[in-house]
Amino acid sequence: METVNGGSVSPYKLLFRALSLIPISHYLLILFLVSIVYVYNLLEIHILQDIVGGFRGDSVSLSFNSSSDVYKEVVSKCQLLHGRYLATPWLSSPHLQTILLNVLVKTPSFSYKREIFRTSDGGTIALDWLMNSDVSEASFQVNGTNTVADIPLVIVVPGLTSDSKSPYIRMIAYDMAKHGWNVVVSNHRGLGGVPLTSECFYTAGKSDDLGEVVNYLHRKQPETSLYAVGTSLGANILVKYLGEDGVNVPLVGAVSISNPWDLLIGDRFFTRATMQRFYNRVLGNSLKGAAKLHQETYARLSDWEGIEKSRSIRDFNNYSARIAGNFETIDAFHRWASSARLVTNVSVPLLCVNAIDDPVCTDEAIPWDECRKNKNIVLATTQHGGHIAFFEGMSGKSLWWIRVVEEFLSNLHASPTMSKQQNSDIEHEFCKHAPAEIEDQAELTIW
Ligand SMILES: *[C@@H]1O[C@H](CO)[C@@H](O)[C@H](O)[C@H]1NC(C)=O
Ligand SMILES: *[C@@H]1O[C@H](CO)[C@@H](O)[C@H](O)[C@H]1NC(C)=O
Ligand SMILES: *[C@@H]1O[C@H](CO)[C@@H](O)[C@H](O)[C@H]1NC(C)=O
Ligand SMILES: *[C@@H]1O[C@H](CO)[C@@H](O)[C@H](O)[C@H]1NC(C)=O
Repeated sequence: METVNGGSVSPYKLLFRALSLIPISHYLLILFLVSIVYVYNLLEIHILQDIVGGFRGDSVSLSFNSSSDVYKEVVSKCQLLHGRYLATPWLSSPHLQTILLNVLVKTPSFSYKREIFRTSDGGTIALDWLMNSDVSEASFQVNGTNTVADIPLVIVVPGLTSDSKSPYIRMIAYDMAKHGWNVVVSNHRGLGGVPLTSECFYTAGKSDDLGEVVNYLHRKQPETSLYAVGTSLGANILVKYLGEDGVNVPLVGAVSISNPWDLLIGDRFFTRATMQRFYNRVLGNSLKGAAKLHQETYARLSDWEGIEKSRSIRDFNNYSARIAGNFETIDAFHRWASSARLVTNVSVPLLCVNAIDDPVCTDEAIPWDECRKNKNIVLATTQHGGHIAFFEGMSGKSLWWIRVVEEFLSNLHASPTMSKQQNSDIEHEFCKHAPAEIEDQAELTIW
């Protein structure tokens, strides 16, 4: 028998011997526990926090200028924004929420009516309409007193490579239509199954298309109150447009959901951690997939070989948008395309919603100070919710942000001061343009 005395036996040997006496099942158990801790951290799961908090969720944090009329007249009446948000317990992770968004969201079947809109450069945009009358069982058509002009119209701007068919876009469209709104999804150029018909493709900062669509809808239905909702990159494009067109925007109000705000910061964030690198790869691939549908145009205007080799959003933009837009560097493109720099110029009531734990669009990019400077903006943030997800309830069938959009826009539309002043100001501005060729610009096709 070896003895420890006199150092005749290596302590490591003893340690090894001791370790070898522990049953293998205990090792497996330890491995299992370590894996759980790893996955818990990797997926930023917050179920323990939720349990400790008694499943009450976290209160919504609101940032706005103390003299904001948008807050006083509209947001102060929004119960959801003064309540708490609790994530669906089995989705208590921003990653699960984000990754499962398009898997879990279900909407009743409905079909849009498609209108093809031609932009001034000959580009093609698919406008997909869902009218209140398409989904309501006459419940909202209160005794037939509603005319088309009474029904407000909300323009939905989808995210990165999403279009009107994406489950979450279908969900907001259906939900708004159910609540008495007419809805039109403004698909990005080249998305929604339409060809590219001019020497131009859509990029992260392409806000002029949205401007043309909004102006067209305003000219077509000057009596209708127009609103807009943008999600993710669609929110960036929407806010950028609102800032660029300032007081000339003919919208009554707008909502930005999970806006990336600053694409330069967002780009850095994408390289930081395991999960972000994963999203970067996935989103980069989906951009490549979308570009492949229009390979000829991309090849003419940018570097197709580079695009094919791209392994991230940054690469993709570097070889497509940067070259097509003549930007010296990819960072210059990112700065130009960011909506954060235009926040102070937004002149219509705007509600912005971001989750602090959004794993795709980092909270570091949120322009807190600019939002507080601008009296038209109310910024609502939640601790949890992930990226355009905000699942709520045990069943996980409801998305909190969709209810927030509906409540905010309905209160805004009902507010006599907020909803009226905007339209009357703008009407004169746009009457000047009222061209006779509007009808030619658009042809209606059934989708
Ligand atoms: C609609 O008409 C019905 C019966 O004609 C009436 O009972 C109801 O109050 C009306 N609703 C509204 C909102 O005017
Ligand atoms: C701000 O809005 C005005 C119109 O209200 C517009 O003329 C101006 O160009 C906008 N500023 C920027 C930086 O886009
Ligand atoms: C962007 O593309 C150019 C070639 O078009 C290349 O020289 C440059 O290194 C790329 N930049 C990045 C950040 O990948
Ligand atoms: C609120 O708005 C006013 C003017 O519009 C501005 O001077 C002030 O700095 C803003 N407040 C904050 C906290 O940014």
